Amino acid sequence: VLPIRVAVLGAGTVGAEVAHQLITRAPELASRVGAPLVLAGVAVRDLDAKRTPSLPRDLLTTDAESLVLGAHVVVELIGGTDRARELVLLALESGADVITGNKALLATHGPELFAAAERVGAQLNYEAAVGGAIPIIRPLRDSLAGDDVRRILGIVNGTTNYVLDRMDDHGDSFEDALATATELGYAEADPSGDVSGLDAAHKAAILAGLAFHTTVPLESVPVEGIEHVTAEQVAAGRETGHVVKLLAICERLTAPDGTQGVSARVHPALLPRDHPLAAVHGANNAIFVQADSARDLMFYGAGAGGPETASAILGDLVSAARRHVIGGPGIAAPPSSGLPVVDPGVV
Ligand code: HSE
Repeated sequence: VLPIRVAVLGAGTVGAEVAHQLITRAPELASRVGAPLVLAGVAVRDLDAKRTPSLPRDLLTTDAESLVLGAHVVVELIGGTDRARELVLLALESGADVITGNKALLATHGPELFAAAERVGAQLNYEAAVGGAIPIIRPLRDSLAGDDVRRILGIVNGTTNYVLDRMDDHGDSFEDALATATELGYAEADPSGDVSGLDAAHKAAILAGLAFHTTVPLESVPVEGIEHVTAEQVAAGRETGHVVKLLAICERLTAPDGTQGVSARVHPALLPRDHPLAAVHGANNAIFVQADSARDLMFYGAGAGGPETASAILGDLVSAARRHVIGGPGIAAPPSSGLPVVDPGVV
C-alpha cells in the first residue's frame, strides 16, 4: 500500500501537536486509514523557534511550496489570510486535499477556495475552524443537510467567554478579567481579534453559510465586541436572572420589505440563566442549533487548545486519507484496533 504523504504548514500550538501525533500515533492512524500516513514535513518560518511539543529538526523546512507540491494532503495551520490563501490554492490546484483550522481564511476567501477544490475534485475540510474540538461543521453540513436550520446561537470565542464569566463570578472589571485571561494563557498575546468580536464574526459567517446553504460575506456580519461591557451591566443582568454572553447569532429572517433571507451577527447579549448556553463557563464554547425537525441541539466542548483542536484536524485527516485508499477501511471502518470486549466487573 502506498503511503499517504501529509504536509503540515505551521508549527504553532495546533500545528506542532498535529505533527507530533502523526509521528507518535502513526500505527493506529494507519490502521484506521488502511495505509500509512507519513509526515512529509512541517513548514515553518523560523527553524530555531521553540515549539511544544518539540519536533525532529529534519522534518522542518522553510520551503512551504516544495513541501505542498509533494503531498497528498496538506494541513494549513499558519493563520492569516494572504500567505495561507496562496498555499491552499497551490495545494488544491496540485490536486491535494486540504485541511485547515483557519477561520479568517475561510470567512475571507471561502468561495474562491471551495471553487478551486471543486474544479479539481479535491476536498477542503475545516472541522477545527469553529469550536476547536467540537464537531459542528460536519453536523451542519452532513447530518442536518436534510433538515431546515432556523437559528444558531453560538458561544464561539473562549477568551471572551472566560472574561465575561470572570466578570459575572468575581465582579471583575473588563480590564482585570482580561489581564487574568492573559496571565493564564487563555487570551492571545494580542487579544484584540477576540475582544472586538472579529474572531467570532469569522465563525458566524462560516456557520451561517453552512446552516443556510448560502454564502455569507464577512462584511455582512455586524460585530460588537465586549470592550464596552461594564461590571455594572453584568451585575444588573445578574439581578434580573440573566448572564451576559458574546453570541454569534445566525437566523433565517424576513426583512421589513418582505424579502426572505438570513442574518449573521455578533454582539453581547443577555441570556436567561436557565438557557443551556448560560451554563457554558470558562474558555469553553457551545453551539445551540434549532432546526425544524431535529428541534434543539447543543454542541459543547473545548473551543481551543493544542490537543483539543488537533483532534478535529486529525479527524479530517483520517477522513481525507481514506479517500486515497482503494479497498481501505473507508468510512464504516471494520475493527482495526484488535481491542477485545472486556467484562467491566460490578459497576
Ligand atoms: N482565540 C480563540 C478563542 C481561539 O479564544 O476562542 C480559537 O479560535
